Amino acid sequence: MRILHFGDIHFWRLQLARDFHYPKRVLGIANLAMRRRHRFPPQLAWEVMERIAGEDADMVLFSGDMTTMSLEGEFQDAARAFAPLYEKWGDRLVVIAGNHDRYSPRSVRLQYFEKYFPRAAMPEGCRVFSRSFGDHVSVVGFDASRPFMVRSNGLLDTQLEKELERELEAAGELGRKVLLMGHFPYSYPGDHPGKWHHRLLRDQALAGIIARHQPVAYLHGHKHVRWCLRDERCPRTLCLNCGPAGMSSSSPESHAGWLTFELSEDGALSEDGALSEDGAVTELNNVSVSPEGELLREAVNIPPVFPG
Ligand SMILES: [Fe+2]
Ligand SMILES: [Fe+2]
Repeated sequence: MRILHFGDIHFWRLQLARDFHYPKRVLGIANLAMRRRHRFPPQLAWEVMERIAGEDADMVLFSGDMTTMSLEGEFQDAARAFAPLYEKWGDRLVVIAGNHDRYSPRSVRLQYFEKYFPRAAMPEGCRVFSRSFGDHVSVVGFDASRPFMVRSNGLLDTQLEKELERELEAAGELGRKVLLMGHFPYSYPGDHPGKWHHRLLRDQALAGIIARHQPVAYLHGHKHVRWCLRDERCPRTLCLNCGPAGMSSSSPESHAGWLTFELSEDGALSEDGALSEDGAVTELNNVSVSPEGELLREAVNIPPVFPG
């Protein structure tokens, strides 16, 4: 099963919202006008979406941040850009919101994300969902994004923690192999430490849930760098950061692109039902779009569960 994972495409529009006085909007629009609009050139985002639509994958997963300030126009652009992907993959395209898609209380209240991405909307009061693929694989997604007045945090509150625990328990009882998708990392490589105003609050609770349920991989974005690591608290789960799909950068791990990998549908389960030591993710590739418009595919080493 070939999987394409992308996120942080960040469509943007330079315009004022009705809640322009919300503190984060004041900072956000200044940042967009001065810096961000150069780092996220719109033609690059559209080109990437077109390239993704042309990729060969069994399943496409989007881990959040389709917009920049949750403006209705940004969601309209995103919905237009995602339409060919929904057309091609249907329910095999799984989408969650990121913190930029829950930018202000008003944009959340008006449910722009749900209005323009009805297939990604969860029932009232739910923040976790599970989707089955074949007999052995489930994608479990959760939404820890909510507006903070100035910061870019997410929050795994106790209610979300319980809901996630229940969903993973149910998947485990059915013996399903789980790909877990959230927007925020809980583990960072040494050269890219998480910042206090940007982290998932209560990320240690997420690490605890993951250590108990051992999903095959935890897929996220948010920090705009592609990486692959195992956290020593839960080494059986591979952490994959897809990096930004829409950002222009001189560094290949941060320049517009995505990840692809193969997931064995049942082969990684040993006789007693436990995951094999090597896990189930293979052939991990970092794909990026070169300035000349070429697709560069670079194989990424997958760290072993037990080093040495
Ligand atoms: Fe982002
Ligand atoms: Fe984010």
